[in-house]
Amino acid sequence: MFDTNHVVDDSFEISSSSEKQIEKKPFFKSQNGKISIFQDDAISFLKSLADNSVDVIITDPAYSGMNQKLKLGSGKIIGKYSDAGEVGAKWFEEFHDTDENYKAFLKECYRVLKNSRHIYIMFDSYSLLSLAPIVREIFEVKNVICWDKANIGLGHYFRRRHEFILFASKGKRPLNSKSIPDVWKIKRVTSSKYPTQKPTEVFELMLKGSAENDFVVCDPFLGSGSSAIAAIKSSCRFIGCDISDKSLAFSTERVEQFLLTQSDIYQKSSLLGDDAAMTKLFSNGKSK
Ligand SMILES: C[S@@+](CC[C@H](N)C(=O)[O-])C[C@H]1O[C@@H](n2cnc3c(N)ncnc32)[C@H](O)[C@@H]1O
Repeated sequence: MFDTNHVVDDSFEISSSSEKQIEKKPFFKSQNGKISIFQDDAISFLKSLADNSVDVIITDPAYSGMNQKLKLGSGKIIGKYSDAGEVGAKWFEEFHDTDENYKAFLKECYRVLKNSRHIYIMFDSYSLLSLAPIVREIFEVKNVICWDKANIGLGHYFRRRHEFILFASKGKRPLNSKSIPDVWKIKRVTSSKYPTQKPTEVFELMLKGSAENDFVVCDPFLGSGSSAIAAIKSSCRFIGCDISDKSLAFSTERVEQFLLTQSDIYQKSSLLGDDAAMTKLFSNGKSK
């Protein structure tokens, strides 16, 4: 585990109006108090948050199902996330997505989310088929969004070019815009130093649909910090966690640098594909 040198004080106030405060110590807290990152297990982290204290959940869990169940021969469908420098070493743990564990995770998401708010959960195709029905038991699922990565990736049969994002709500809330399509053409991150790094634009689009200034955005599977960068670009507050030391190192360095220089050290340029709708949505130069 890392030390907590970055920490400014011991508790994190989720929002100025929130009565209850998180008792855990953040690994990183920005000077303005708007961005806090914790090292924790997702469920344990969510349990530390007050009821109805989060405005939007945007998250990309590390599912174990696809690797375990779609194994072919000795190969694995999505790789081992191994570090080139450490043969056989795993970059991070997969979240154990048994029905029970996944339901416990979703119930905590539901509890911490305010009423009339949105949640976005990313899925590979295997996990979508097995776990989406559980999301439906707890949230009102509104859309299955397809993230079109523009270029093909790995796959033993049809080569994968997409992932899914379930868009759901707790109570009723319209989207901020009626002009966002349900297929998002945004190029994948290539030669990233953190495996599974997603383009910030994917998270920015979620926030274009569902966030307002100063909304509390939460991601309990932070990885390289793309969702935190999207939250900053969208003028939101952010709380997130990850269990892995490497995630904490990447995400906090990335956020610190972004706050200082407005430049993203792990995604140097835009990954928008050649899609007129996407270009138009991002054309005002701001995230929202
Ligand atoms: C798919 S990656 C997220 C990638 C991220 N969206 C990005 O753009 O970089 C999933 C993350 O979940 C983390 N993780 C795995 N099990 C976890 C758990 N039980 N609690 C919290 N984080 C966990 C992994 O360390 C990994 O960083």
